[in-house]
Amino acid sequence: MTQQQARHVPVLFDEVMDFLRVRPDGAYVDCTLGLAGHAEGIVRQLGPAGRLIGFDRDPEALELARARLARVLEEMGNQAPQVNFVGEAFSSIASHVNPASVDGLLADFGVSSLQFDEARRGFSFQADAPIDMRMDTRSGPTAQQVVNEMSERELANLIYEYGEERRSRTVARAIVRGRPVTSTGQLARLVASAVPPMKYGQTPPATRKTFQALRIYTNQELEEIRALFEAAPKLLKPSGRLVVISFHSLEDRIAKDSIREGTQQGIWKVLTRKPVTAGDPEMDLNPRSRSAKLRAAERQ
Ligand SMILES: C[S@@+](CC[C@H](N)C(=O)[O-])C[C@H]1O[C@@H](n2cnc3c(N)ncnc32)[C@H](O)[C@@H]1O
Repeated sequence: MTQQQARHVPVLFDEVMDFLRVRPDGAYVDCTLGLAGHAEGIVRQLGPAGRLIGFDRDPEALELARARLARVLEEMGNQAPQVNFVGEAFSSIASHVNPASVDGLLADFGVSSLQFDEARRGFSFQADAPIDMRMDTRSGPTAQQVVNEMSERELANLIYEYGEERRSRTVARAIVRGRPVTSTGQLARLVASAVPPMKYGQTPPATRKTFQALRIYTNQELEEIRALFEAAPKLLKPSGRLVVISFHSLEDRIAKDSIREGTQQGIWKVLTRKPVTAGDPEMDLNPRSRSAKLRAAERQ
């Protein structure tokens, strides 16, 4: 498998399947369908009495996932489970899923390789395109509006908080002086001019951090994750399992703290004392897996 192909392979696939422990007649929710790699794994273990509900707020991702799973269901014939799709943010999960009805809930946070690799979506600092960064392309301000409309102080706070960038004021000043900012390439150059890389030709860490900050803010990603942890205990059956994969410390901190607090309140039994990470072979093949951290818990 080439690295390009590996980018489309779901992260920590075997580990997700082990923790979810899919029962053929169970009900499962994939909160982040993406390219439906994990979802296909779940569907293939379900029988005709089983059910998967899949969420994605990105209409393009949802259509691709729908097409992929339709092929799998057709192949499974009369042994196929029921699959339902919800094209909304997973913070709305409690409006679509009945209380205490779910055996397993999966969330693989962040952007998909589809979103990241597609220059026009505006997530990547390696491409040159309008700075969109919305997962749900139907609504809400783009990151470009944020970059051009926020005050310098607000921008600095955002880059500090969501990018964990110490020199956020310097970065924000350079961005504001460079306005109007109309492309990902221009934004990357402005950040690099303010905090140059250690070596000529490298991308400075501040660029990645600034892009991460804008993406998190534009998609309200941390609020979404908090809402999911709030809803999950009510939706899972006793012994139902929650499996989450995070890709940076802000996401993982919410997961870790929510599970710890829930454990103290008798809601969760922790299944992963330390987060599960990818092994060397997976990291070699799939660079995205290098920062992945899986945490799992069982509803008491
Ligand atoms: C990392 S990808 C998931 C990949 C997937 N597990 C697979 O096997 O292909 C994350 C997906 O979740 C979606 N997503 C992220 N946050 C979301 C949210 N709050 N609500 C609904 N979908 C979300 C993104 O649009 C993206 O398609």
